[in-house]
Amino acid sequence: MGIDSTGAERAVDLLSEGFRGARVLIVGGAGGIGVEVAEQLRALGARVVSASRRGPEPDVVQAPREDGDLVAVGVDLTRPATILALAAWVEREFGGLDILVNTAGMTRSVPLRAIEQLDDDTIDEVVTSNASGVLRIIRDLTPALRRGHAPCVVNVSSVAARTGVGSNVAYVGAKAAMDAMTIALAKALAPEIRFVNVAPSALDTDFAKGRGPEFIARTIAATPLGRLATPREVANAVLAGARLLIMTTGSTIYVDGGRHL
Ligand SMILES: NC(=O)c1ccc[n+]([C@@H]2O[C@H](COP(=O)([O-])OP(=O)(O)OC[C@H]3O[C@@H](n4cnc5c(N)ncnc54)[C@H](OP(=O)(O)O)[C@@H]3O)[C@@H](O)[C@H]2O)c1
Repeated sequence: MGIDSTGAERAVDLLSEGFRGARVLIVGGAGGIGVEVAEQLRALGARVVSASRRGPEPDVVQAPREDGDLVAVGVDLTRPATILALAAWVEREFGGLDILVNTAGMTRSVPLRAIEQLDDDTIDEVVTSNASGVLRIIRDLTPALRRGHAPCVVNVSSVAARTGVGSNVAYVGAKAAMDAMTIALAKALAPEIRFVNVAPSALDTDFAKGRGPEFIARTIAATPLGRLATPREVANAVLAGARLLIMTTGSTIYVDGGRHL
């Protein structure tokens, strides 16, 4: 590994050296934010594994590559057995984990006032994919993280947890749960493992399809900086949380142009 996180390094060194050879798992790595994080990490010399539902079962894919080529594996946060299988695979192939990025998530649009339309399946899937599945993956990877170099977990949350405005009430609650779990884990697992949340406002990715121009105009109007955030800006915050902000744990970094204010 290129660097020791002692607090004495310059920012430029932390970013340019801190990811060299780092073993990184991005859950949700195939998504709009995940792809951007993976690309930047690979450029900085990390060994990156991307996991999501569309990847193959961990056992049938090749081992993580030294040359930085991305490896994709399968996991479904709503199926705990697949999380255990992924953790076992990471253990076997990497022997330890330095950085875990949780950027998987899903939602469906159900207006907050139309709470009667929020069906059980949506509540369960949204809460599992954005909160309880994330907790399971952190739990199952904690042994590998404990053996990692300067281990850090970066969770991608949402400004919705702070504003109480989002695609549906279950989503808002699930992201708030993620924020609270991050605080609890940051305290409980310090000083071994750091935890940082990155909370974007609405982005132009596949995440909430069909939002439409009206939604985008309303969001921009409610954002002091007057535009949507980009996946790259969110990825930049993920990288900063993982290797630049080494005295930060349990905090949420908003990448929302001031939308939470
Ligand atoms: N985009 C926004 O407007 C926005 C705003 C605030 C916060 N966020 C948060 O940012 C994160 C990433 O958003 P994004 O814009 O990159 O979304 P995206 O493009 O839709 O990507 C989401 C990723 O999550 C994976 N995923 C979904 N459900 C999963 C499950 N049950 N198990 C495993 N993987 C699952 C998807 O891959 P598969 O389909 O292959 O499983 C995909 O890789 C999410 O947590 C979201 O809540 C997004």
